[in-house]
Order: sequence, then C-alpha cells, then structure tokens
Amino acid sequence: MVIRVSPNAQGLIAKSFLKKFEPILGKESKTFFESLTWFLPKTIRVNTLKASEQSIVRFLQNSNSKFEKIEFLDHAFFVSSNFEVISKSLEHELGLIQIMSASAMIPVIALDPKVNETVLDLTAAPGNKTIMLAQFMGNQGLLIANESDEVRLKRMRIHLLKNGVTNCLLTHQDGIQFDVGLKFDKILLDAPCSSDGEINKTINQLKDWSQEKVIKFQELQKQLMVHAFDLLKPGGELVYSTCTFSPEENEDIVQFLLDSKKDAHTVSIKLKGLKGTLPLEQYNGKRYSFEVRNCLRIWPYKHNLEGFFVGKIKKSE
Ligand SMILES: C[S@@+](CC[C@H](N)C(=O)[O-])C[C@H]1O[C@@H](n2cnc3c(N)ncnc32)[C@H](O)[C@@H]1O
Repeated sequence: MVIRVSPNAQGLIAKSFLKKFEPILGKESKTFFESLTWFLPKTIRVNTLKASEQSIVRFLQNSNSKFEKIEFLDHAFFVSSNFEVISKSLEHELGLIQIMSASAMIPVIALDPKVNETVLDLTAAPGNKTIMLAQFMGNQGLLIANESDEVRLKRMRIHLLKNGVTNCLLTHQDGIQFDVGLKFDKILLDAPCSSDGEINKTINQLKDWSQEKVIKFQELQKQLMVHAFDLLKPGGELVYSTCTFSPEENEDIVQFLLDSKKDAHTVSIKLKGLKGTLPLEQYNGKRYSFEVRNCLRIWPYKHNLEGFFVGKIKKSE
C-alpha cells in the first residue's frame, strides 16, 4: 500500500471530522485518519453482458498488468500496475470492462437480482450499479433506473448504452415521490450522501467536511428510505448503501426504517472472505437495535477498500 501524503493526515481533514470520529473509533481512530490518505488498489469488473471473464484475463495478461482476482466478488480484479493503459483501452471504451471500486460492487451482490425480476435503482446515475444489476438479470426482466438530475440522467443513458444494457427503462423523477404504478421485487437505494468514504476522490473534500451537510443528507435519506420500502412488493427486498462514514447517514437510517415500519426486517449479507464488517453498535448515547447488526461497514484501514455501508431489508410477506 502506498501512502499518498504525509502520514500526518490531520492537516488535511476538518477538525470537526476528527473530533466526531475519535470517540467513535477510540484507539483505532489514528489508523483510520491516516488511512484516509492512502492510495487504494484500483479495481475493474468484467461486464459479463459484453465479454467473458476469460477474454478479459487474456487482455490483462497482454497489457502486462499485475492483477489479482478479488476473493469476495465474482468477475472482479485488483489491478496494481499499468492501470492507465487499462483505463484508456479499447476494452474500457467499448464497455467490456467497468472501472469501479470493489466496495461499490457490494450493494449489488447483496441485492442479488434475478432474471425476470422487477427491479428499481431509485437514485441511479452515473449508472455503474445499474449496469451490474442488468448483468445479474442477464438483461431480462424489467430494470428501472431513476435519477432526479437531468444532466446526470442524460450521461447515464449513454453509459448504459455503451455497456450493453437492454432491459432498462430510465425515469426522471424525484425519488421521494417516485411512482410508475408498479411495486418491485428488489430495490437498490444507493443514496446521495456526504461521500467521505470515497477516499481516493475526496481527500480534499475532507477539509471542507461539515456536520450540517451530513444532517442535510440524513433528512433526504430518511424520506428516500421510507418511500423505497413502500415501493416493495410483500416479500420484496431493499438494499440501502452509502459511501460515507457518518452513522447519521448509515445505521441511523436503517434504525429509522425499522422504527417506522413494523413489516421491515434486516437480512444478513454474506460475502466470502471479508471479515470485520460489523456496523456500529451505538452512537451518540443511543444503542441500535440488534437487527441493525446485519448491516455491513467497510473501512479503508481494515479492508484496504473505500468506505461503504450496506444494509439489506426485507418486507414481510
Ligand atoms: C450515490 S449516487 C448513485 C451512484 C450510482 N448508484 C452508481 O453506482 O453509479 C446518488 C445519485 O442520486 C441522485 N439523487 C439525489 N437526490 C435524488 C432524489 N431526490 N431523487 C432521485 N435521485 C436523486 C444524485 O443526483 C446522484 O446521481
């Protein structure tokens, strides 16, 4: 692992962020703060809609890259050298491979959509997880990708076309009122969030981090979460994910849903070979209910991956 800057991460991070996470992580907080300056391994995913894993392994070998299969994810590889060649390759241009962080693949693995299910991606742009959902569904069934931002929606249309997605309908609605007269078997809510877990992209943002922003996102996430749950069929499943460390946007949101809906229950998420993913048990003087422990947290300092939170919820039959 390469440290990006001085191990004294503290100068790069807002004091309010340090003050917030120090009591949460206790003696692990120093390593956590340092990890926010690490370069994390780059990862790619085979777009199984357009290419076989075998052909992409051959391409990686021919590009003289060092690569390694990711144990807990199918069709995904860590690439530790020559990444630039891969990111500028024809294979990437043509949508045979996707460049996305390993953590960002986990919500789709957790949702595990099947061929012929009716699936909603409620806040979908730029569409990386939508492409993965279509892969799981073998481009069959109905996949709806919704996005409220018009510019991002237009870019997503091109991204999905390039990646060979053909079972997807795009909608342009506010997710808190989304309605197309359908109920869904599976819903992904990869929520808008304060994004501090995307550490390779956001180290500069950590300087301007603010609790006010966290609370603003929390309000939106609560509304999106409850509405997403209402859009499920009985027996349907919802995955909630964020790329932020803040409990207000993670465990709090799952707890809020469990408190609001008596027919909501969490489901454990199984990922082979990934340990130490338990969520927080308490925060700010509140103990979360036992059900919240089914959720999963990815930390850069423990997993050498971008920060992510994933919770899976089932609606009773
Ligand atoms: C975290 S990003 C989704 C990333 C996407 N799942 C992917 O993997 O490519 C969240 C998206 O939600 C959109 N968004 C924010 N507020 C929304 C709302 N009220 N309704 C629908 N989409 C919203 C944002 O514009 C952003 O594109």
